[in-house]
Amino acid sequence: MAQNSITITDNRTQQNYTLPIEDGTIRAMDLRQIKTSPEDFGIMSYDPAFMNTASCRSTITFIDGDRGILRYRGYPIEVLAEHCSFLEVAYLLLFHDLPAKLELKLWVDQITHHTMLHETTKKFMEGFRYNAHPMAMLVSTVAALATVYPEARDIHDPANRLLQVKRLVAKLPTMAAMAYRHSLGFPYVYPDNDLSYVENFLNMLWKMVEPKYVANPILARALDILFILHADHEQNCSANAMRCVGSSHVDPYLATAAAAAALAGPLHGGANEEVVKMLDEIGSKNNVPAYIKQIKDGHGKLMGFGHRIYKNYDPRAKVIKWAAEQVFGVTGRNPKLDIALELERIALEDDYFIKRKLYPNVDFYSGIIYQAMGFKPEMFTVLFAIPRTVGWLAQWQEMLNDPEQKIARPRQIWTGHEVREFVPLAKRNALAVPR
Ligand code: SDX
Repeated sequence: MAQNSITITDNRTQQNYTLPIEDGTIRAMDLRQIKTSPEDFGIMSYDPAFMNTASCRSTITFIDGDRGILRYRGYPIEVLAEHCSFLEVAYLLLFHDLPAKLELKLWVDQITHHTMLHETTKKFMEGFRYNAHPMAMLVSTVAALATVYPEARDIHDPANRLLQVKRLVAKLPTMAAMAYRHSLGFPYVYPDNDLSYVENFLNMLWKMVEPKYVANPILARALDILFILHADHEQNCSANAMRCVGSSHVDPYLATAAAAAALAGPLHGGANEEVVKMLDEIGSKNNVPAYIKQIKDGHGKLMGFGHRIYKNYDPRAKVIKWAAEQVFGVTGRNPKLDIALELERIALEDDYFIKRKLYPNVDFYSGIIYQAMGFKPEMFTVLFAIPRTVGWLAQWQEMLNDPEQKIARPRQIWTGHEVREFVPLAKRNALAVPR
């Protein structure tokens, strides 16, 4: 009997089954042989929210939640944040290795070349109300790009896929800036190809009437680092959405829009906006103990705390705290930081949070930095979606190139009615409580 195996006894039949263990997993399909009769469908695994289910094999991002480790293609996130630019890390995530000097230059030139948007984008951007949430505008606009590039549907052509990947990486900042300018009623600013990826993003956001926008280098570098930290995070909710929607072989614009929609949720990428709202609600350091008591009494969650994988401090939060000090050196200290630090100090000493292994995650401090940089809370998740588009596209490409993958279609446990006799309309009784 192979050592790397598990033997299961079905007590219903006294039958034994030996299943191979591969990479610490058993194949769910191997359970289907466990039957009580030839007609029996066989055993399925049941795992709501995929708490203990591997959906794929991946070489993109490695996380060790207990040890607080995060690596992109084997490189620790702390090292990449210190030594690389975001586009350099984007290259690593998309093409498996860090680029050499010439490769990086060509990559940056190609992305810079694609920052412009088709003029028709303005027309569907103008269709949004003045107070439309920028994330809803971004999701819709990304999807609408599928109408501008219909050839993107040919996802089986690697060269065509690569062209769409470059377009999406390049155009997300342009779309994000347009959504922001629309919400303020300001004219759109066209990309400036003299500027770096992040400096150009700041240019499209904040240039007014000056002839040439000049970004503050400290703020630009801090945002570049934040983009690196947010670029990918293995099989999170939005990456799963990208893989699931992408598995139907839809074009990458519609798949990316689906992933961005998942990110917008307050339990996922929308948490950074909720953190700042929570800190506003707390109002001052003195109110922190009462707020924590509310949470412990089951009234709401501490936004920016907790993680499905990290049962230790999110390594990104540590780097973000460092970046915060750089930004505050330019913008002045965001008073919310003191409330956040007090919240963290008390929570990390409190058994309720210790027992549940709840630590600050990537969203806890990022919103405070963005606000200090001048972003409205509604823009915070947009700032998450820009870099995470690289991760989604890396996951999408890996899924398409994985021979084991096919269209995602989970099973269910049926808990509904057995077959029922049809009742003609004339004979139906009104529901006791109308729906
Ligand atoms: C991101 O997956 C990723 O990798 C995501 C992300 C990425 O880069 O893609 O890292 C980005 O989404 C970070 C997470 C941002 N979300 C938040 O900050 C929202 C607040 N956090 C929680 O909603 C929660 O911690 C989750 C959603 C992040 C994780 O939830 P889980 O893994 O489903 O854990 P759970 O809800 O089952 O909680 C376990 C226990 C529960 O208590 P009990 O029922 O055991 O008594 O911990 C409690 C929860 O009530 N709990 C919290 C809490 N998070 C969990 N209690 C108070 N405050 C919290 N934040």
